[in-house]
Amino acid sequence: MSVLPILTLGDPRLRLEGQPVDSFGKYLHELIDDLTDTMRHAPGVGLAAPQLGEALDVAVVEVSGRLLELVNPRIVRADGEDRDLEGCLSIPGFFAYVTRKEKVWVVAQDRRGKKYKVSGSGLLGRALQHEIDHLDGKLFIDYLTDLETELIPVSSLEEEGVDEEEREALAHRG
Ligand code: NI
Repeated sequence: MSVLPILTLGDPRLRLEGQPVDSFGKYLHELIDDLTDTMRHAPGVGLAAPQLGEALDVAVVEVSGRLLELVNPRIVRADGEDRDLEGCLSIPGFFAYVTRKEKVWVVAQDRRGKKYKVSGSGLLGRALQHEIDHLDGKLFIDYLTDLETELIPVSSLEEEGVDEEEREALAHRG
């Protein structure tokens, strides 16, 4: 288990489509452990394999102390709309308001290949959508029409009076 460097915006590997996982052995288990360690070290609420340079459909999400190991995850149902600030460990120092589904239902496999379902709204729902986007080579900035005006540097959140606790929470993204 290791903390690995997280790729940042501009690295073409962030744009690679994740390949489906069909082997549930040691290689996958080490990748999941590395993702978990690296996410917790950042710290973040999620991390996807492409952010470590692995073009595989694997991600982890951890919200409210519950770790989800997501292998071959896909959204099977979505409901409502939610607009909130979002950040990405691959785009450090910047946030933006992104409109996403309010609640999603996801089918995934665990590290042994066993299928399970999970649903989430709020931060969990957003983290699930954000990480599954990474597996399609998609980043939150792709939802923005004008980076110049919509991308918010963390320093300007301070100026806007977003308190430290909230800024800290915002930094905890994937
Ligand atoms: Ni991200």
